[in-house]
Amino acid sequence: MKKVQKAKRALITGSGGLIGSECVRLLSEDGWDVLGIDNDLRRWFFGEAGSTESVVHDLQLRYAAYRHFNIDIRDRQAVRDLLEVERPNFIIHTAAQPSHDKAASIPYDDFDVNAGGTVNLLVAARDFCREAPFCFTSTNKVYGDRPNTVPLKELEKRFDYADGQCGIDESMPIDSCLHSLFGASKAAADLMCQEFGRYFQMPVGIFRGGCLTGPQHAAVELHGYLAYIVFCAVSGREYTIYGYKGKQVRDQIHSRDVASLFLEFYKAPKCGEVYNLGGGRANSLSILETIDLLANLGYKLRYSYNPTSRIGDHICYISDLTKIQTHFPRWRQEYDIGRILNEIVLRYDARVKAKAPSN
Ligand SMILES: NC(=O)c1ccc[n+]([C@@H]2O[C@H](COP(=O)([O-])OP(=O)(O)OC[C@H]3O[C@@H](n4cnc5c(N)ncnc54)[C@H](O)[C@@H]3O)[C@@H](O)[C@H]2O)c1
Repeated sequence: MKKVQKAKRALITGSGGLIGSECVRLLSEDGWDVLGIDNDLRRWFFGEAGSTESVVHDLQLRYAAYRHFNIDIRDRQAVRDLLEVERPNFIIHTAAQPSHDKAASIPYDDFDVNAGGTVNLLVAARDFCREAPFCFTSTNKVYGDRPNTVPLKELEKRFDYADGQCGIDESMPIDSCLHSLFGASKAAADLMCQEFGRYFQMPVGIFRGGCLTGPQHAAVELHGYLAYIVFCAVSGREYTIYGYKGKQVRDQIHSRDVASLFLEFYKAPKCGEVYNLGGGRANSLSILETIDLLANLGYKLRYSYNPTSRIGDHICYISDLTKIQTHFPRWRQEYDIGRILNEIVLRYDARVKAKAPSN
């Protein structure tokens, strides 16, 4: 009798980035052959501190079954050629221009990477591996500044929802609000993913991230909020708070928990479903609360306050995880906020000590 072998080959775009690299680690440790696409465009977006080259190098050393492709996802033919040859069983698409603020200064590049690159992957997936579950990392910025219309109450250290609601769910409309160019290019990609799911009945899941974080983030001021504020506290660099009295709230989810959710989607994929993905209420923190937690860990942050908030910035954003928990009941978040912070602090502390001159 012919032996049927379960093929396990995953393609991960943005494989040097925070989420992409965590997916490479998880799937490699789970026995998958992993192909990664990353051309270190993050270095071009944010300068040397944003480079993900060393992460890719580390993945190549650590995982024998990892193969890296220095492809730009804007290169349609290169993407098609790779998918035609490799025909992966699972695709996780995380490559992006990820910064809300950066997009305004590079509108063509932002749109070409976020929207155009996503369409290149979707069409190639439809043509060469249509059955492969496809996870797209969208963003809560597709809701633009509409979350700011939810009535809020101001507490001593944070804002919160006035009516006691747990968080923002997927029924929030995306129209008639200010998105930022980044929010708009990601919304274009988000809609195309939904459309390929519904029109072509492809197993595409759209995950609208809140704050995705972890110690591997090549954090810079314009992207990677939690890792960047920890870096400032640990290294002594001054941090600037923009607006909302430092009471703006974000829910933090560790990259490992994002990767494990994608694996659950692989096992039970849905066509064109949208999910809000963040750490949820238990993992939500304001900037002032973050500063207090860091002080408790022994790191006093030096900061200044600029009363002008970032354009379209959310005042309070907490993801309602009910839909995810209903569709993927086996998924568990392993990282609470304390564990997340500890990991990031340890990473930067070790880095700062390694650079300090020894006496
Ligand atoms: N980190 C967050 O807080 C957050 C929140 C919401 C949504 N997201 C989304 O999640 C995804 C992953 O975010 P992240 O924090 O891991 O980002 P990241 O910047 O750490 O990783 C993205 C990787 O993609 C690569 N890349 C960018 N453009 C490319 C191109 N044209 N071709 C090939 N590679 C390219 C970059 O070099 C980088 O290594 C992004 O789509 C982002 O929009 C992130």
